[in-house]
Amino acid sequence: MEAQTRSLLEHFSSERRAEIEEHVETLVSELTLEQKVGQLNLLNADFATGTAVADMDIQQGIIDGDIGSVLNFENLEEARTFQELAVEESDHGVPLMLALDVIHGYRTIFPIPLGEAASWNPKMAELSARVAATEAAADGVQWTFAPSVDVSRDPRWGRVMEAAGEDPYLSGEISNARVRGFQGDDLSADDTILACAKHYIGYGASKAGREYNTVDISETNLREIHLPPFEACLEAGVGSVMNAFNLYERIPASSNEALVSDLLRAELGFEDLVVSDWDSFGELGEHGVAGNLREAARACIEAGSDIDMVSGAYATELVGLVEDDIIDESLVDEAVRRLLTVKGALGLFEDPYRYFDEERQSQRILTDEHREAAREVARESQVLLKNEGDLLPLDDSEEVALVGGLADSATDMLGAWRAEGDPDDVTTLRTTLTDRIENLAYVEGCDRDGSVSDEQLETAVETVTSADIAVVAVGERYSRSGEAASRAHIDLPGEQRALLKALIETETPVAAVLFNGRPLAINWEAEHVPAILEAWFPGLEAGPAIADVLLGEYNPSGRLPMTFPITEGQIPIYYNRLRTGRPAEDADVDLTEPPTGPAEKYLSRYLDIPNEPLYAFGHGESYTTFAYTDVSLDAAVVSTDETLSVDVTVENTGDRAGTEVVQVYINDLVGSRARPVKELVGFENVVLDAGESATVSFELTTADLEFWTADEEYAAEPGEFEVQVGHAADNVTAIKTFEFVE
Ligand code: GLC
Repeated sequence: MEAQTRSLLEHFSSERRAEIEEHVETLVSELTLEQKVGQLNLLNADFATGTAVADMDIQQGIIDGDIGSVLNFENLEEARTFQELAVEESDHGVPLMLALDVIHGYRTIFPIPLGEAASWNPKMAELSARVAATEAAADGVQWTFAPSVDVSRDPRWGRVMEAAGEDPYLSGEISNARVRGFQGDDLSADDTILACAKHYIGYGASKAGREYNTVDISETNLREIHLPPFEACLEAGVGSVMNAFNLYERIPASSNEALVSDLLRAELGFEDLVVSDWDSFGELGEHGVAGNLREAARACIEAGSDIDMVSGAYATELVGLVEDDIIDESLVDEAVRRLLTVKGALGLFEDPYRYFDEERQSQRILTDEHREAAREVARESQVLLKNEGDLLPLDDSEEVALVGGLADSATDMLGAWRAEGDPDDVTTLRTTLTDRIENLAYVEGCDRDGSVSDEQLETAVETVTSADIAVVAVGERYSRSGEAASRAHIDLPGEQRALLKALIETETPVAAVLFNGRPLAINWEAEHVPAILEAWFPGLEAGPAIADVLLGEYNPSGRLPMTFPITEGQIPIYYNRLRTGRPAEDADVDLTEPPTGPAEKYLSRYLDIPNEPLYAFGHGESYTTFAYTDVSLDAAVVSTDETLSVDVTVENTGDRAGTEVVQVYINDLVGSRARPVKELVGFENVVLDAGESATVSFELTTADLEFWTADEEYAAEPGEFEVQVGHAADNVTAIKTFEFVE
């Protein structure tokens, strides 16, 4: 990996760059040590998104020059007050940077990030981030702690809702788009905000999916699975990276020199800001790798972590560490230089009040255009998991029973990271279907948390019995995913399965709509419910977007960004698995039956369940059908730096327009390290009218074949490769082989 620098400033003209650098150097030379340390202190103003916070009065701290950035402020007025204190009351007059977790929308809330990733459309992710930045920047925000790029293979972990699923490549494409949406082309513009790739690194591999648990990953897995989306964010020019809470090689990410200074900065060339997670510096004590806050502060600043979020370690310890000659002041200067460079890139030195304009606030937030964008993204994020007998789309002349508290719950549509999202702005599925279906009867059937009373059950059965078709909203409440929301059981909470069983028994056809922030273990439902639409938490426009799909206005095009297991016992389960020495999948045995002899027994398998997931990565159905009529490679042998063209012709063989997400995987048959059975290297959304065909081309380069070899370098090794093209990781329609030679 050749070292190349990646800095926010490389996106500026040389003049602008020189201006910012000169101003920064002047400030660094003029600020006292205490003032420089104060710049590295990030404190929360109003609400906490964690525990343990430093004890400092926010306004006095700003005036005294002890705070350089603020997160979780109340509103624009408070933000302006803080900025006035910093610029006009403090001795140094350095503007603050104000931050908030703007994860999937600011006031106009979009689908949760896992849902956006299900669109397999980076344009949708960029659009969502663009709107979020426009609204947040109009309300005093300069810095969002997003995108989360945690690759995870464990749906028990609640924060899978916050990122882009299990695959390094899809996560990279989506995260790169999010950074570009947030930061735009000019970070000093009044509708762009600083993005933050988080959580560096490996948080998604928390053992057993338990929040804040230990992480134990190899360097190979770190580099091949968890690092690529961060690199994709660096490619997009992300201006900040956030430390993860977890350990790597038993050293906390915040104080891990190998991760921050060596890998992120020296090897990947990242020159901008590294910010801690909530009290993650202070948590070195809990991890047992620092005896006190002073040791923690030293370890983190020496590792290259710049900004201390709420622990107070830097504010209370850095001056003393310098004065006692334990650390060199140059370490503080480097961190302050990076922070001031970001503030300069945001244009805060020219105009500290650029982001505090009440007029812009009223013009740019919750506009009709933004709502339409939210509906567009929500449409594309939905995944049709099954549709037996083409039960969907609905016929709006039929008598439809709508069942389920989640269909009528505005707050749950906003997901767990809702920034300034307001339930009053949400259009629920019940509201929309009531408007758009003449004969609609709504019954709650079950509470939002999944509980079902006898009366609710009886009423639901009665209503569904007399209807032509039932739409049943099931899933999780929004608070069952997100941070600090791991679940050991990921089936439908409460008695929702019992409710579905009773409704299925009425023999009225049932279509389920899933509201959830993670893959769920819905094995029974997948077997007995004829149609299942995955809606995630779709945001403000939940009702219209889901109705567009249910009524056939929009042909669902989403594909799963994360595997759905049959049961928790399969976790971690993912498509890009290694073969093992005794691969069961390749053996000609029925893994749904217990082994009856050695040939079936001595394989990598379970005795009681199959290896295959319920729904595979990339799975998603459509109201039409597609055929891959031709797949060709333009060469049988390629060498280093040559490109291999893969041409794929797809035909819409159904009777309505639709979108096929063509997926291209490679399989490196032999490597100096074991290689995954397949790895996604390309995808393309192809929109086709009924009967229409189109050919899409993918250009595979040597970089697509590289991996972390046994020689501990990234390289493509000579040998045979397969190109697998298809509709999903478990639904490949063509396999072509080629040879790579050096
Ligand atoms: C939280 C999260 C992090 C978030 C930060 C500030 O604990 O881990 O993702 O950005 O604190 O809210």
